[in-house]
Amino acid sequence: MKNRVSLLEDFSLRHYSSGPLGVRDDARDSRAYFTTPIFYVNAAPHIGHLYSALLADALCRHHRLRVPSDAATGFSTGTDEHGLKIQQAAAAAGLAPSELCDRVSAQFQQLFREADISSTDFIRTTEARHRIAVQHFWGMLKARGLLYKGLYEGWYCASDECFLPEAKVTRQPGPSGDLCPVSLESGHPVSWTKEENYIFRLSQFREPLQQWLRGDPEAITPEPFHHTVLQWLEEELPDLSVSRRSSHLHWGIPVPGDDSQTVYVWLDALVNYLTVIGYPNAEFRSWWPNTSHIIGKDILKFHAIYWPALLLGAGMSPPHRIYVHSHWTVCGQKMSKSLGNVVDPRTCLDRYTVDGFRYFLLRQGVPSWDCDYYDEKVVKLLDSELADALGGLLNRCTANRINPSGIYPAFCTTCFPSEPGLVGPSGRAQAEDYALVSAVATLPKQVADHYDNFQIYKALEAVSSCVRQTNGFVQRHAPWKLNWESPVDAPWLGTVLHVALECLRVFGTLLQPVTPSLADRLLSRLGVSSTERSLGELHFLSRFYGHPSPFEGRRLGPETGVLFPRLDQSRSWLVKAHKT
Ligand code: MSP
Repeated sequence: MKNRVSLLEDFSLRHYSSGPLGVRDDARDSRAYFTTPIFYVNAAPHIGHLYSALLADALCRHHRLRVPSDAATGFSTGTDEHGLKIQQAAAAAGLAPSELCDRVSAQFQQLFREADISSTDFIRTTEARHRIAVQHFWGMLKARGLLYKGLYEGWYCASDECFLPEAKVTRQPGPSGDLCPVSLESGHPVSWTKEENYIFRLSQFREPLQQWLRGDPEAITPEPFHHTVLQWLEEELPDLSVSRRSSHLHWGIPVPGDDSQTVYVWLDALVNYLTVIGYPNAEFRSWWPNTSHIIGKDILKFHAIYWPALLLGAGMSPPHRIYVHSHWTVCGQKMSKSLGNVVDPRTCLDRYTVDGFRYFLLRQGVPSWDCDYYDEKVVKLLDSELADALGGLLNRCTANRINPSGIYPAFCTTCFPSEPGLVGPSGRAQAEDYALVSAVATLPKQVADHYDNFQIYKALEAVSSCVRQTNGFVQRHAPWKLNWESPVDAPWLGTVLHVALECLRVFGTLLQPVTPSLADRLLSRLGVSSTERSLGELHFLSRFYGHPSPFEGRRLGPETGVLFPRLDQSRSWLVKAHKT
């Protein structure tokens, strides 16, 4: 049996250096791997599930923007199909478990396709490749003496698929009025279980887990969740039952060499992150060191305690990053089938467009606390930020009446010299204009920092604030009052439009992870080619900084349509939402 310290020493701690965008430029970092939780198939997807997937998608897309295109990025999602919860849901629906799984897994796949989730793999835990991975992982734990057979007696919550100590159970009146035991945390019913299971020596991992988290303060982000896990680890960590009697739970992966037991669904589910990268084949090793898990706060314990302990037990390092988000409520209430307030994400994508709904969830969702959903909020946000501010800005700078030649106009360095002190008689730039240039020049770095801290909403807030500032710039200089025919006005008119288009190019580039097709339309309208859309190619306002600009004189793209149409407030669904 290994002692505590040597368990932690099984993996080598990696050191990272940071480049100018906070991008780690260590050679090992050329591969990055992002994961969403895998989703239970007991019910159709809702906006909370979509939110988990969108956060991962935005992080992954932002990563692709900042690393060279030949560096590999993996992004997995999928469905969690085994366990008592699914077995019971299938029985209640009068279906074979596999039928329920096929049906609901297909719904998730379709939703993610429609929502432009750019995953590179979709795993189903019922696949053969996954069974092989789980059984191999089990074998590793067994070989290292970390599994033993013992009697488990205690509460089990099938909805949450977890074991609960007495202190985490309370009594609530059930449908017949009798008091029923439920989980204190989730309110879901629990039942008393007494059976012989395989048990994992979780208790041995308390100190290694503490060492890991103390040594890597960013392992769990945002920080309050890191702190919570360290607090949990202050308490005793009991061993964990990792199998169930097959006669009770048949819908799962059999324990290798003992068909009378089925692998505990959380162990089964967590190993999906390894299956996707080829485990147990050696190729998984090149992916694993740079893994980022994106998860909701309700599954923190499984990912930040059980999973790292299991990994350490199998001789691997804990995940590199665990990004944690909070939940969406609806009109102030928890979303639930029984309350009938579950928001269907596909209806939302239809109503608000894919880009619109992606923008809403990521702009309004704050990882550290729960957010409330209601339709009017979506309409207000999208009308003001995407339709009016961003769409209006693009329209103002590209409309035929203001830019009749349809090109990216030239920037005049005497009208807008590189320093305010150099503004001569023909100079027109004002102090606020310099403030705008400096805000937009630093925006990519600010946005990257917010992504690193898993504060995507702050990245969007920063972009939105610069959009407002650019609108202020255009308003201040009123290019519609300037005349292309006048030799005095023309260079300044061109400069105002050039600066505004440069700002729009930065916004379009930075919005790609969140609103991919809207950003594509915006960049295409500006004539930005597909090879000029990464952060490495961004070079904002080169002429101002004394370099040639590849955009000056370039023809704008032909697509002149509205970037984001205002949502018609008189739509029947909105009226209905007001009444209910
Ligand atoms: N199957 C497990 C995860 C296993 S990962 C190895 C599971 N599935 S789930 O379908 O219940 O939840 C999947 C994700 O959706 C979790 O990250 C969870 O936090 C998230 N959400 C579920 N309801 C949510 C909201 N109301 N709001 C935001 N996210 C929510 O847990």
